[in-house]
Amino acid sequence: MRRIAVVTSGGDAPGMNAAVRAATRVGIGAGIEVFGVRRGYVGLIENDIVPLTVRDVSGVLQLGGTFLGTARSEEFKTDKAQHKAIENLQRRSIHGLIVIGGNGSQMGSYALWEKGFPVVGVASTVDNDLYGSDISIGTDTALNIIIESTDRIKTTAESHTRAFLIEVMGRHYGYLALISGIAGGAEVVVTPEFEVDPATIADELRSAYERGKKYALVVVTDGAKNNAEEIARYFKDHGEEIGFELRVTILGHVQRGGPPTAFDRLLATRLGAAAVNLLLDGNGGKLVGWIGGQVAYTSLEDVVSNTKVLDVNLWQLAQILAE
Ligand code: F6P
Repeated sequence: MRRIAVVTSGGDAPGMNAAVRAATRVGIGAGIEVFGVRRGYVGLIENDIVPLTVRDVSGVLQLGGTFLGTARSEEFKTDKAQHKAIENLQRRSIHGLIVIGGNGSQMGSYALWEKGFPVVGVASTVDNDLYGSDISIGTDTALNIIIESTDRIKTTAESHTRAFLIEVMGRHYGYLALISGIAGGAEVVVTPEFEVDPATIADELRSAYERGKKYALVVVTDGAKNNAEEIARYFKDHGEEIGFELRVTILGHVQRGGPPTAFDRLLATRLGAAAVNLLLDGNGGKLVGWIGGQVAYTSLEDVVSNTKVLDVNLWQLAQILAE
């Protein structure tokens, strides 16, 4: 294999640039040429592929987002688009691809691999919902942003003796809400796996005040059935009987922005480097992730056919700590 390409795909995550940088420099160091695909799978379909030199990846280690650009591509789910992508790569004599991204992106990786193209995935998503990695690129940064926000909200909540709700990312997986609920000290955590209805939330918050707390905090996953909108509506409609207000902050895309933490830079660097070595060893069809404190390899087939499960013990711990 003399030429490989790197693509960042799906939702951006802080640390993606560090992974591209590592893949580029490790590849060039091993004597091969490295290319970057712009705008995720869209660029792969549209043949938007550029050579990367060691200097092209200077100064990106500390930057959030992805300098290559990214996209969510519906078209790439079709056989036609996948064949086009392979054709575009092969026409440039590129015979290996590294896909840095989350669930949707790794489904794309698996589709290319099944069509006979050597692909290695790198686990990257703030949601941390990718099977095959304890923690993914971007998750630690998002958590730190959430914790800083909860800390800040708590000071104003305490000053006014108020209840607050913070909605965080995660979509179908409640990792960010649960972990930030524990590390940020929430009274109630609501996730798609562990839904709490708005009436129970009101009871829990009232009980927190009765136990002598000066403020109360709810952390909710954006993909929960009882998300910020639903809970806020309930509090508005039942304001008089509840007897206290709930202020809502939706953190949104700020969680995905800004510089990666030291942990994410290092994780991304190690995973990006390992992905190149895997491709060069002729081991396509795998996701490079982080399991048990080290780089780990999981078949893309297992990645796309398994769902990560939230730790019920941590959920129970969150309940006890809320006392
Ligand atoms: O998958 C990452 C994520 O940030 C989710 O947590 C969130 O629900 C979604 O992406 C937001 O989607 P978009 O990037 O399309 O705004």
